[in-house]
Amino acid sequence: MIWFTVLAGLAILFFVFLKSFSPYFKDDCAYILRSIKLGIRLVKYKKIKPFYSILDSFLDAVKRHPDKILLHFEGQQFTYGEADKKSNKVGRALQAEARLKEGDTVALFLANEPSFVWTWLGLSKLGCPVALLNFNIRSKSLLHCFSCCGAKVLIASPELQDAVEEVLPTLREQGISVYLLSDTCKIKGINTLSEKISRASDEPLSPQLRANIHIRSTALYIYTSGTTGLPKAAIVTHERVWAASFVQAACGSTSADIFYINLPLYHSAGFLIGLAGGIERGMTLVLKRKFSASQFWDDCRKYNVTVMQYIGETMRYLCNTPEKDNEKDHKVRIAIGNGVRSDVWSDFLNRFGDIKVKELYAATEGNIGFINYTSKIGAVGRVNPVHRFFFPYTLIKFNIEKEEPVRNSEGLCIEADRGETGLLVGRVTQRSPFIGYAGNKTQTEKKRLHNVLKKGDLYFNTGDLLRFDHENFVYFQDRVGDTFRWKGENVATSEVADILSMAQSILEANVYGVKVEGHEGRIGMAAVTLKEGEEFDCLDAYNKVTNYLPAYARPRFIRIQPCLEMTGTFKMKKVKLVEEGFNPALINDLLYFLEPEKKSYVPLTEEIYKAIGARQIKL
Ligand SMILES: *[C@@H]1O[C@H](CO)[C@@H](O)[C@H](O)[C@H]1NC(C)=O
Ligand SMILES: *[C@@H]1O[C@H](CO)[C@@H](O)[C@H](O)[C@H]1NC(C)=O
Ligand SMILES: *[C@@H]1O[C@H](CO)[C@@H](O)[C@H](O)[C@H]1NC(C)=O
Repeated sequence: MIWFTVLAGLAILFFVFLKSFSPYFKDDCAYILRSIKLGIRLVKYKKIKPFYSILDSFLDAVKRHPDKILLHFEGQQFTYGEADKKSNKVGRALQAEARLKEGDTVALFLANEPSFVWTWLGLSKLGCPVALLNFNIRSKSLLHCFSCCGAKVLIASPELQDAVEEVLPTLREQGISVYLLSDTCKIKGINTLSEKISRASDEPLSPQLRANIHIRSTALYIYTSGTTGLPKAAIVTHERVWAASFVQAACGSTSADIFYINLPLYHSAGFLIGLAGGIERGMTLVLKRKFSASQFWDDCRKYNVTVMQYIGETMRYLCNTPEKDNEKDHKVRIAIGNGVRSDVWSDFLNRFGDIKVKELYAATEGNIGFINYTSKIGAVGRVNPVHRFFFPYTLIKFNIEKEEPVRNSEGLCIEADRGETGLLVGRVTQRSPFIGYAGNKTQTEKKRLHNVLKKGDLYFNTGDLLRFDHENFVYFQDRVGDTFRWKGENVATSEVADILSMAQSILEANVYGVKVEGHEGRIGMAAVTLKEGEEFDCLDAYNKVTNYLPAYARPRFIRIQPCLEMTGTFKMKKVKLVEEGFNPALINDLLYFLEPEKKSYVPLTEEIYKAIGARQIKL
């Protein structure tokens, strides 16, 4: 199998050489060779027994360099050896307290702090998959996320105690054990863990405890906002953990690099690429509780950071900071991430010096991804025959209004032309499986696309619209339909609509994202209808959205409509609303604006509209 892979790779490489000698040939080759090397490793990991997981890679790193620093955090530092011992203690404490055994899922509701790392490692040593809960979610969403991964245990940071308390009655009804990583807690039904951890032995846990884990076992659940409302728990297998952790290697990071994790660990970017990738390389990590633009470069200088991670928004925040003389004085050489706009990128380079940007395209649950390994501005990657041979994908024609693929008379999809925007679909194969979501089969089925190019074939529907150009560059265009991105987070429109409909005066809500000049992504807006005889209750609507939704998901604009337009299939029409935006001069309906300072919605006036355009109002 390995030799087959190598030979196939070389044959295709030769083919590429003959076929398309292009200015990007060198980049293509370097990338292809790196990918083949990583592909061979993955094949090896699929075969060796006992199974070699990212945890084993961590344990090997501990043996190689126990005294190397694994983690810098708020002035503290922890070596590989210390991390190993700490995770043994966590594992032992949980084994004794919660009677955990191989295969039991544990939900982590933790802030970005070192205990996140020890807890995950400790649980991995027991063979327990972990569900990474977003620490911004509350009440209904929190319960939903918790229950769909099938966990019987919840571990939370002390600072999230209030959020846990809010859902505690339901958790207790379901017999869930709840632990807080603190020494004391007065609330009945919440157990404390810190003291038990500090008393536990730091002796290694036997690999026998995880003897039945294999490459297709579930390692993690990572939540993604989907088209169906509440977040979905994407099942991340060990195979996927390996593949995602290889991104660092594919981008050229080495064990001598120092990686700066400033993104949340509950997302795949921070966890899989940052943490798992860092461990795979055996590097030193700098962990931040929260992204801070003002501390960013000071941190990079202080810790000698060489590889950074970004999303489009963080790049822009960095460019918006006041200029300083020492801006180019740092050691950052690679930036890995996704969603940067070309103009921001040029600005970033001008200000902060020569940093190689590796723009990625990938979805947590998806079976296809791209890396921007050449220096083409705006592209997320390249169509590369080797990559495509191993991970077959295509773009198909898509009807945006109907939100479905265009099909021909035989019922098959039609491949998009070069230069045309189409829906990215990845063929589901042994090598590129689509595992799906925990709990709800309907959701998994929705992402499966049958009869795409041939009768009976099966593809994963990414829900993303991309474009390939004539030089084989790949461009990201848009996300289909019901999810939009704001401040680096995906917002599921139906979840927001559910919350809005809880407001007294609102009958129905249609939520969508609108573009604002100078911002990545789309900001939340809702068209609503009111109950008969009611007026829009600004205060009540404000209270509902602020109580139940994280800041990034709250609709900043509300548009009152006499009725909501529906499509033939009773889906609400959004395309026109999105295009119309929120300009009061052009829209006859009443418009409101969420004003955090007034703690209410207020009528959207021309002045407010202008102030937003002039960026005098922060969104
Ligand atoms: C950063 O590098 C400098 C010079 O190589 C070294 O003196 C310093 O100790 C390093 N800082 C950290 C936190 O490792
Ligand atoms: C791809 O990388 C190059 C340089 O490494 C950069 O100039 C370009 O902007 C990147 N593409 C995107 C979409 O960021
Ligand atoms: C699964 O998701 C669908 C929407 O896709 C929803 O209608 C259904 O109620 C869900 N089922 C469960 C058991 O949560």
